[in-house]
Formats: sequence, C-alpha cells, structure tokens
Amino acid sequence: MERLKVLVTRRWPEAIEAKLHARYDVTLNESDVPMSPGALRDAMLNHDAVLPTVTDTLTPEALNVPNARCKILANYGVGYSHICESSAKAQGLVVTNTPDVLSDCTADIAMTLLLMVARRAGDGERELRSGGWSGWRPTHMVGRKVSGKTLGIVGFGRIGQEMARRAHFGFGMKILVQNRSQVDASILAQTNATQVDSLDSLLPECDFVSLHCPGGAANRHLINADRLALMKPTAYLINTARGEIVDEHALIQALSFETIGGAALDVFDGEPRIAPALLDCDNLVMLPHLGSASLETREAMGERVLANLEDFFAGQTPRDRVI
Ligand code: DGY
Repeated sequence: MERLKVLVTRRWPEAIEAKLHARYDVTLNESDVPMSPGALRDAMLNHDAVLPTVTDTLTPEALNVPNARCKILANYGVGYSHICESSAKAQGLVVTNTPDVLSDCTADIAMTLLLMVARRAGDGERELRSGGWSGWRPTHMVGRKVSGKTLGIVGFGRIGQEMARRAHFGFGMKILVQNRSQVDASILAQTNATQVDSLDSLLPECDFVSLHCPGGAANRHLINADRLALMKPTAYLINTARGEIVDEHALIQALSFETIGGAALDVFDGEPRIAPALLDCDNLVMLPHLGSASLETREAMGERVLANLEDFFAGQTPRDRVI
C-alpha cells in the first residue's frame, strides 16, 4: 500500500525523524533553511501533511493552492501566528500545535532571562571574557534584587502559569496577572496571584513584566512607547512569547534613555534579523529563541506532532487542533 507522504520543513531531533520514517514516506528539508513560499506551495501540492514550524511563514501565497493534496498542517511548536488563519480555513486545512510539553522549558528560559537582566549576568560575562575584570568591589556591577519583588504576567495560559509558579515559589514574588479573559479563581489561588483589569493598570505596579500572550496581528506592538512609559523606571521587561508583541523601536528608545531598568528578549520582530541598535543596549539580555530548546522538550514536541498526525489519518479530530 502506498504510504502517506509528509514533508518536514526543518530538521527535527533524530529519534523523532526515525519515528516519522518508520510510519510515513518522509521528505526532509536536508538544508535546514526556511523554505520559500514557492517551495511550500509545492509541498502542499505533493504531500498529505506538511509539518511546519515558527520559521515558516505560511502566507496566503503559500497556502492558497487549488487542488492541494495536503489537508493538515501539523505545526511543531505551540505558537501558530506564522500560519495565515483565514487562508488555512479557506483551504479547509486542519492545523495542530504542540502545547503543554514546552511550558516548563519556556518558563525556565523566561526566569533565566529575568535573573540575568536583574543581576547583570550578561554584562558580567562580557566583562570577564573580554579580560576587563579588575576584581571585587562594593560598587561593581550592582543590579537589582529579584526575591520578593512584583512580577506582572501578561497572558496567563500554561506558560504564564508556569512562570508564576517559578517566581512565586522559588523567589517569593508577588504575582499580578493580565489576561484577555477572566482567569479561574482556583488557578490564581495556586500562586496567590491577582488579576488586574487592564495592561495599563498592571504596568505601573510591576518590578518585572513577563510577556506570555500569543503573537499575531492582534497583539502586534502591544508593548509600545506609551505602555513602556507606564513602567517604573527601574522595571524590567521580559519577552519569551513573540517578537512582534514589542515595538522594538520604542524599546530601544526606552533602553537608551533608561526610562526602564532593562529588558531581556528571547524573540525578535523579524528574527533572526536583529535591529542593530539593540546590540548597543547594555541593559538588554538577548537569547536566540531558546524557549523550548531542551532535548526532552524538542522530542516531546515531536511526539505530540506524531500523535496529532495519527489521529488525523485515523479520521479523528487531533487533540491539539487549533484551526
Ligand atoms: C513555539 O512553540 O511557539 C516556540 O516559539 C518554538 O518553540
């Protein structure tokens, strides 16, 4: 019997690629560079499933393919704002994602960034590696204390809640939450968190603000110049969600004029291109989109894709269907 054809747009952990090969006729993108819209169109025409990830921009051009063989985009990752929802719907495509399994590691990276920026870990490492450290002194690289401070969490889904747990139980932080919908009182109670009415009322209250909301057009530049101006001059902004949520031009201004204490970013607008002015900001820590980058998590994400495909090809609704 002819095997189902699946195309994987980037290289995946070896163990998961092996499982895919055992079940399907797999096309791998051996070069591991993002595919062009044209190549993605061809993939849609010739495969039963396309397995994209955050680096693929599934625009109307890539998705509006008459007579496409592909009926499912089984995304490797939780965020899917890189997939044009209206085109996917118009094409009758099922779209799935990989939630839950990356919440721990993404929250770990958010906490890592929070600690790094407050305690000047990036600065310190740069100084030491450049041979510039002249020794201990009371005024050397003094940062800000984390324990007991107030953390504002924007978007209280699974990752936001994991972040709250780390901050509250690990560092005794007070948790404030802003979320589109009302969060269940029992969930807030787990970290003694308080939900506030609006982002504008959250920002002035926080020593740290960590973003965990979805990206996409609806949240583009949610953190703009006006909102940055609402933050305390000593507060830090952490973004492990999506680059487009923060207006980077406004952030560069805030960092350069020190109207906020600092920022720490794992994601960038238009990544992997980085706005050159960000590189000049010493009160900024940057990581190359490492949120889910542990072997355990990356394999678990692959398992989740495999399970979604299995459901779909068995005629069932995949558990992680998002479109
Ligand atoms: C996601 O899953 O959306 C991440 O950004 C990649 O892990």
